[in-house]
Amino acid sequence: MKIIMLGAPGAGKGTQAKMIAEKCSIPHISTGDIFRANLKEGTPLGKKAKEYMDQGLLVPDALTCDLVVDRISKDDCEGGYILDGFPRTVPQAEALDTFAVIDYVIDIDVADQVLVDRLSGRRVCVKCGATYHTSMLNGATKCSVCGDELIQRNDDKAETVLARLSVYHDQTAPLIGYYEAKGLLKKIDGAQGLENTTQAILNALGANA
Ligand code: AP5
Ligand code: MG
Ligand code: ZN
Repeated sequence: MKIIMLGAPGAGKGTQAKMIAEKCSIPHISTGDIFRANLKEGTPLGKKAKEYMDQGLLVPDALTCDLVVDRISKDDCEGGYILDGFPRTVPQAEALDTFAVIDYVIDIDVADQVLVDRLSGRRVCVKCGATYHTSMLNGATKCSVCGDELIQRNDDKAETVLARLSVYHDQTAPLIGYYEAKGLLKKIDGAQGLENTTQAILNALGANA
């Protein structure tokens, strides 16, 4: 099963992709996570990506596509995978079409107002990547999974969040029509709570939960 998770910043792509990947036993591939891991390791790719990410802009298509082609060519992707945050532009989707046949595109739909609150309140674990919202932390500053420090992502600062939303509407939202025209799109209400959203996605995939 080859699945794309589409949706605005903060829609819940990462949260849901993790759940679905576990249920379906397929790798979860997030281009944002790959860029952040490279940044942490100080690789040339990480340094390049940071110039764009910190401004809320997209990393150039060529760089991103090469990375994904490389990743989905690995052995663990033979039985399928779930792409989170890729493709994000029409040229990326066209490039993907030349090297993969996608089965489902899940579009997680959430209103902009809710997205701003989710992103500005998001905290992530530096070590294991677990994601939280300040409203559920009751002032806690440590990860409940591994005990490490929780931080705010650089691009979750208020001004960058607005830039990311605008980039999403200009460059990524056109993919909804792109995949609708191919008959692959499944629209999911992403404002209905974590578990209900997961269940709605599993139903759309025809998977047993
Ligand atoms: P990326 O890391 O992909 O960020 P994004 O698309 O902006 O998405 P987020 O990770 O912010 O949100 P999400 O949808 O995963 O939401 P989450 O599950 O965390 O990309 C970062 C940057 O990398 C980009 O800006 C760009 O520069 C670059 N990049 C990446 N891919 C690229 C590409 N293909 N091309 C070019 N550049 C690329 O949830 C958010 C919050 O909401 C959390 O706090 C969570 O707990 C909460 N939440 C989630 N679901 C619910 C719910 N149902 N109810 C209540 N709260 C919820
Ligand atoms: Mg994410
Ligand atoms: Zn942790």
